Amino acid sequence: MKVNGRQTRTIWLGSDGWSVEIIDQALLPHRVVIEKLTSMAAAGHAIKSMQVRGAPLIGATAGYGMCLAMREDPSDAGLARAIAFLNEQRPTAVNLRWALEVMRATLAPLPPSQRVAAAYAQAARICDDDVETCRMLGVHGREVIRAIAARKKPGEVVNILTHCNAGFLACVDWGTATSPIYHAYDAGIKIHVWVDETRPRNQGASLTAFELGGHGVPHTIIVDNAGGHYMQAGKVDVCIVGTDRVTANGDVANKIGTYLKALAAHDNGVPFYVALPHSTIDWTLDDGFKIPIEERSADEVLKMPGRLPDGSVVTVDIAAPGSPAANPAFDVTPARLVTGFITERGVAPATADGLRGLYPEAVRG
Ligand code: MRU
Repeated sequence: MKVNGRQTRTIWLGSDGWSVEIIDQALLPHRVVIEKLTSMAAAGHAIKSMQVRGAPLIGATAGYGMCLAMREDPSDAGLARAIAFLNEQRPTAVNLRWALEVMRATLAPLPPSQRVAAAYAQAARICDDDVETCRMLGVHGREVIRAIAARKKPGEVVNILTHCNAGFLACVDWGTATSPIYHAYDAGIKIHVWVDETRPRNQGASLTAFELGGHGVPHTIIVDNAGGHYMQAGKVDVCIVGTDRVTANGDVANKIGTYLKALAAHDNGVPFYVALPHSTIDWTLDDGFKIPIEERSADEVLKMPGRLPDGSVVTVDIAAPGSPAANPAFDVTPARLVTGFITERGVAPATADGLRGLYPEAVRG
């Protein structure tokens, strides 16, 4: 997709052929800054501090983090240390563990002298796979939106609600929840997107709106509490969200607040779809409530960054001084509230059998 009119992925190799470049998402939408990662520690910091975020991009960054780690120490001990270090940076998105396991499977059988080159090749494959996976997921998801459009009066707009940023910024390209949106828009289907602000870090207002605006997709930012109201008013035709981990029984972990949107959708008969790539399924768990939920800093709740009229970006306090805050970053939506999964292999019911039908080769934990 494009950022400021320039075609880009969210992660790529620098012109030196070994450093790793990212868009610093902590600074969006106010500033587009490219950050160069030159060490395993920097890759870990980028994941933890959310300079890169979104489940698939966390995995892709971990892949390149392993490349930087192998330059530093390609021994067996170095390999084990790097996997353990990167894996602990964020706990909920299973794509992190998935990418590190892919890297381990490639690197562990090789002699240390061959590990750097093999790591770069494998990290590039992870990125290319994510791009193609998200593209295909969008092709299937477009048909979900097309079917909704066909049931409306001619010329009527399909209103889609999304939460957080499951867009191209959360992946290597295309996005998960946004890929069907981009494909539908590009196919000429009339759409409008309600963008949940997504407190406390505002990924909807800062990132999803930035993306959709850049592509010309009509959208409106709403506060997180407005979605249920618009559903009651018949102004939401479908919800499409992403996910950080889907368990084998179809439960879904995603950004905090997703569960409340699913409840409101269920109460109002609004279809609620979850878009995901294969790398987001945790076949080792069969219960979403076993997923570790990341607890982040209270400062994310108590403070808010913003741009002043002179262009400078400042952070201000927004709460009563001295009050504590809790900040769970994700919640779990039970499979029974999910209408279907949109994947690169097609659309399926949010059940164990639905997932199994799409991925018959998957090995259960
Ligand atoms: O904390 P974040 O910004 O990493 O959370 C991102 C989300 O919750 C996304 O919805 C999820 O990772 C899916 S990304 C395609």
